[in-house]
Amino acid sequence: MNVDDHVAPFVHEGRLCVGGIELHRLAEQVGSTPFFAYDRGLVSRRIAATRAALGSDIELGFAVKANPMPALVQHVAGSVDWLDVASAGEMQVALDAGKEPAAVSFAGPGKTDAELRRAVAAGVLLELESAGEARRAAAAGSALGLRPRVAIRVNPDFTVKGSGMRMGGGPQQFGVDVEQVPGLLDELSSTDVALEGFHVFAGSQNLHAEILVEAQRQTVQLLLELAVKWPEEITYLNLGGGFGIPYFDRDQPLDLRAVGENLQRLVAEEVRPAHPAARVVVELGRYLVGEAGLYVTRVVDRKTSRGKTYVVVDGGMHHQLAASGNFGQVIRRNYPLTTGRVAAGTESIGTETERVSVVGALCTPLDLLGDDVELQRTEPGDLVVLLQAGAYGFTASPTRFLGHPDPAEILV
Ligand SMILES: Cc1ncc(COP(=O)(O)O)c(C=O)c1O
Repeated sequence: MNVDDHVAPFVHEGRLCVGGIELHRLAEQVGSTPFFAYDRGLVSRRIAATRAALGSDIELGFAVKANPMPALVQHVAGSVDWLDVASAGEMQVALDAGKEPAAVSFAGPGKTDAELRRAVAAGVLLELESAGEARRAAAAGSALGLRPRVAIRVNPDFTVKGSGMRMGGGPQQFGVDVEQVPGLLDELSSTDVALEGFHVFAGSQNLHAEILVEAQRQTVQLLLELAVKWPEEITYLNLGGGFGIPYFDRDQPLDLRAVGENLQRLVAEEVRPAHPAARVVVELGRYLVGEAGLYVTRVVDRKTSRGKTYVVVDGGMHHQLAASGNFGQVIRRNYPLTTGRVAAGTESIGTETERVSVVGALCTPLDLLGDDVELQRTEPGDLVVLLQAGAYGFTASPTRFLGHPDPAEILV
């Protein structure tokens, strides 16, 4: 996909807009740059398309870690079945958003005793990441006189290729190795916890439908094999997700239909005969919100150094680390970026473009937001906009680094 493809959903009547509000006006409303702006209509559309592809028998979860802005989580909470959280802080955001504890799952290694206690008290589903955590969850339950709701997060014996981040297969800090699950089940059978089911999350940011289809097949097979090892009825099967979004020139959008059709078939043919009433969940973060967000910066300075032109903006990697290439990229590539002028189409705007490097305000060469990009000519005061900024942006960035203020966030 090229930059125009990324910009297109934000263009209304030739102007770059978020939620129908033209970007320069929105910048005035926010009152300061840089800021993140999320388009609630785009989020809703993506959720609706995903639900349509998954069909009515598969529940959709939102991984709050992708974007925990409370207003956004509240917006999403109303149209998904589950919220997946990764800390007690995120759990509170999910509960504040009005999600019932029965539909909140809490995954992630290193849950502290205090977090386990809070989760048990709240009544959310704990995704156990180790035998030790299972014991500590049980202890939290007995201290509170409550029966913890738990599921086992399983580290599978297969890996999913093509994921931006692999989180399953081989040795992992995530989940219980599948070969250790029978031992853990034995232990749980004499422990006062309510085991609801199993969860496999094998990787994130995958754009290859054929790989996801194969991973889902293996995941379902593994979950079904584990489910028969537990004498009581299994009511929760979480198949993970990992649906990716295109960031770079050669990336193509995921074939959602192919992935959805495969999931529907697997659930109907493989899962339902054995587990007619289990809640089958697919859990997505980035796919639901990543493309609905912009990171809006303002040009502070331009300079030429030995023939190279730098556009210096007031934002940077401290807010949008991923765009600088320092959040899981092996080879740095540019996130799509544009100017606020692009679609504004106003008289003052020239069509002249230039090759520049867009750099942030931090005193490190890592703070590179666009390397040698073709961009409309900008002057100090103009807006430069990074796309694909709706997931793993503000809260996945080193905001304290160099002491600049936090960006505003707005949901439009
Ligand atoms: C357990 C779990 N669920 C969901 C996600 C969300 O992944 P993504 O945003 O790629 O959909 C992650 C990402 O790390 C995860 O670890």
